[in-house]
Amino acid sequence: MTPRKIAAGNWKMNGLAAALAEVAALNAAHPAPACAMLLCPPATLLAQMNWAAKGSNLKLGGQDCHQDASGAHTGDISAAMLRDAGATYVILGHSERRADHGETDALVLAKAKAALACGLIPIVCIGETEAQRDAGTTLQVIGSQLDGSVPEESTAATLVVAYEPVWAIGTGRTPTIAQIAEVHAFLRARLTAKIGTAAGVSLLYGGSVKPSNATQIFAVPHVDGALVGGASLKAADFGSIVAALSAA
Ligand code: PGA
Repeated sequence: MTPRKIAAGNWKMNGLAAALAEVAALNAAHPAPACAMLLCPPATLLAQMNWAAKGSNLKLGGQDCHQDASGAHTGDISAAMLRDAGATYVILGHSERRADHGETDALVLAKAKAALACGLIPIVCIGETEAQRDAGTTLQVIGSQLDGSVPEESTAATLVVAYEPVWAIGTGRTPTIAQIAEVHAFLRARLTAKIGTAAGVSLLYGGSVKPSNATQIFAVPHVDGALVGGASLKAADFGSIVAALSAA
């Protein structure tokens, strides 16, 4: 099985209803991309975006979900709620959630299981800090995050992994092509050890992906797409990345 190519946009805490115009522009410019095109807006926009994207190829995802199915968790959102609002994916364990909300691998694992139980595909994020890279522990850190956050029952159809070096997110800096290649090859092998066959699991790179570097990054072996933050907010920029992936 070959991995699905996925261009995923993470709007983070950005976007009011007026931003839905970007979705219309994106769909108009890329009605039939040769890759999956996914946007993860803030939860407040999910249902509206689902409505706005009806009949198009755009897929939607959440940016986080709670590990429980329902209950007394003020301010939290369950996997079933995301699904109900139109999501088919959910980003989990993003480094901003790990840093801002103290999310551990164990918690990310529990959330991933909750997502799977509702039929959502988790996009499990992992990545080293700059200090960890400088200390030469990148593969060790990433390996243990992968082992700790990915459900063992995952299959190629129900798992996406995003490698996002923390120091490359929102900074304009990216690893070298050789560094991305090293991590992605390592991830494919480590995942195979964990879940059996990982040949078809989509492995995304994230961190300062933009129109100017997308083609080069998508040429790296075992890079099956991107998780894009800042450059996903504008239809023109994200559309260029979608086009680059479609051509890869
Ligand atoms: P960035 O964010 O593209 O703005 O660096 C990537 C991410 O956090 O997923």
